[in-house]
Amino acid sequence: MRIDIISVVPKLMESFFAHSILKRGQEAGHVEVILHDLRDYSLSKQRQVDDYAFGGGAGMVMSVEPIARCIRHLQSERHYDEIIYMTPDGETFNQQTANQLSLQGNLLFLCGHYKGVDQRVRDMFITKEISIGDYVLSGGELAAAVCADAIIRLIPGVLNDETSALTDSFQDNLLAPPVYTRPAEFEGIGVPPVLLSGHEAKINEWRFEQSIERTKARRPDLYQKSGL
Ligand code: 6GU
Repeated sequence: MRIDIISVVPKLMESFFAHSILKRGQEAGHVEVILHDLRDYSLSKQRQVDDYAFGGGAGMVMSVEPIARCIRHLQSERHYDEIIYMTPDGETFNQQTANQLSLQGNLLFLCGHYKGVDQRVRDMFITKEISIGDYVLSGGELAAAVCADAIIRLIPGVLNDETSALTDSFQDNLLAPPVYTRPAEFEGIGVPPVLLSGHEAKINEWRFEQSIERTKARRPDLYQKSGL
């Protein structure tokens, strides 16, 4: 998979993709993440990429020309399966969206800033609009990083068996069960004996029950969706 990200602050995301699982995913050749500075596509000497809103009002609007130049440049080199605009008024990102996008070959993310992008960008180029929740961030960069992380870890080979995505919370609309590691007793508090029993079937049964109880208590909406 290849992920291109267009931003006015690409530096903000550099270190995020240069560590841990995302770094290893790239080093192992499973994914390539390329950051693009929108200002490189500006037509002005001052590298401006925004302008006042027609009709007035507070806040700048990201101009259509630099974005169109950048997207068309990238499109001339490869086809993009989705061109995704990160915006608080997009559809809310969830595990199902992550699963779907992880099956694609080339993704292009455009990070919104200020009062957003000129509507013509959305009408002409964008195939999908994503939000990561009902709160406003100062830019789409963190949101794009969140989506890219959730997508990349699902690409076969990126995670090893120990970190397998199959047992994640949400993958079956259930939250993950409690986990414990050594010591078996800490300040007088032990761990559930079944986990020390070595009885795999009983352990799986316990984990499943715990998942169900947690989901019922914390996320009744998810429990409904699980169909259990
Ligand atoms: Cl994608 N962008 C911004 N600026 N704020 C957000 C968001 C995106 N998703 C939730 N809040």
